[in-house]
Amino acid sequence: MNILLTGANGQIGQELVALLAKDSRHVLIPLSRVALDITDQAQVQRVLNHHRPDVVINTAAYTQVDPAELEPEAAHAINASGAEYLARTCQVLGVPLIHLSTDYVFDGKQDHPYSETDLPNPLNEYGYSKLRGEHLIQQHCSKHLIIRITWVFGRYGKNFIKIMLQLMAEKETLSAVSDQVACPTAARDVAKMLVQVSEQLTPAFSQWGVYHYAGMPAVSRFEFAQAIMPIAQKRGGKIQQVLPVTSDHFPTRAKRPLYSVLDLSNIKKVFGIEPSDWRLALQQEF
Ligand SMILES: NC(=O)c1ccc[n+]([C@@H]2O[C@H](COP(=O)([O-])OP(=O)(O)OC[C@H]3O[C@@H](n4cnc5c(N)ncnc54)[C@H](OP(=O)(O)O)[C@@H]3O)[C@@H](O)[C@H]2O)c1
Repeated sequence: MNILLTGANGQIGQELVALLAKDSRHVLIPLSRVALDITDQAQVQRVLNHHRPDVVINTAAYTQVDPAELEPEAAHAINASGAEYLARTCQVLGVPLIHLSTDYVFDGKQDHPYSETDLPNPLNEYGYSKLRGEHLIQQHCSKHLIIRITWVFGRYGKNFIKIMLQLMAEKETLSAVSDQVACPTAARDVAKMLVQVSEQLTPAFSQWGVYHYAGMPAVSRFEFAQAIMPIAQKRGGKIQQVLPVTSDHFPTRAKRPLYSVLDLSNIKKVFGIEPSDWRLALQQEF
């Protein structure tokens, strides 16, 4: 397959590049923001027309949750309009579009895992912009897969684990919030899932739509930090204990859902994809 990848320099983009470098069955066309700015509609049309891929995977996004509150137009330009331009062009070319979205489309008020049919109700601008992107893709591209994921971490880019490891190197005691619960997800597992899904998009495939994917088990930020602590200690970090606190101890510009565990049964039923254990990736990668 020829797979065109947007956002190739991101956390997940770089994992896909690394994964497919070892896989001779597929040709990856990895495009960073410089090679393809998805907010430039003419460029989107030109580049997709030129490459005529078998599938487009969009990992390009505005992902800074707090800054999005200050510059919502920038978040919407990339996450909504950019997604729309890709969708419209894919539709014209008859190319499937796989797009990543987020658990932040939900308000977190539910007490059981969110399924794809549960009603989104974003709490922040980032979530709004991602939800708008979902709607525009559904409107303009019939062959779409929108895959919502949660709490991504990995070797590349900035993420919770890297921030924790930095703090744990210098501090003996740290606090982490115990009332935000979701599923940490390894970027490398998202990359594997994206390839597995792409491979199943035969001409006969018809189950387009929204899916959920995440790592398991679900934990609070506090429990996630506790799992990171032994790694920091092995690296000579000063950390001795992590204390649980509620979210109001760490006021942030953007509100976040308190509970955003995703129901993963559909991706398993349709694509045979099981959730991976994030603790394995944590041990292997850090
Ligand atoms: N990270 C998470 O915890 C998380 C959770 C749930 C869902 N997701 C979703 O997963 C997807 C990938 O996330 P990620 O963690 O890999 O994000 P990331 O590390 O922030 O990467 C996003 C990439 O998009 C690129 N980009 C930004 N604006 C662009 C534009 N106009 N045109 C083309 N590329 C552009 C960025 O380029 P530069 O490098 O030049 O800035 C960056 O390389 C996103 O859709 C995100 O919403 C992420």
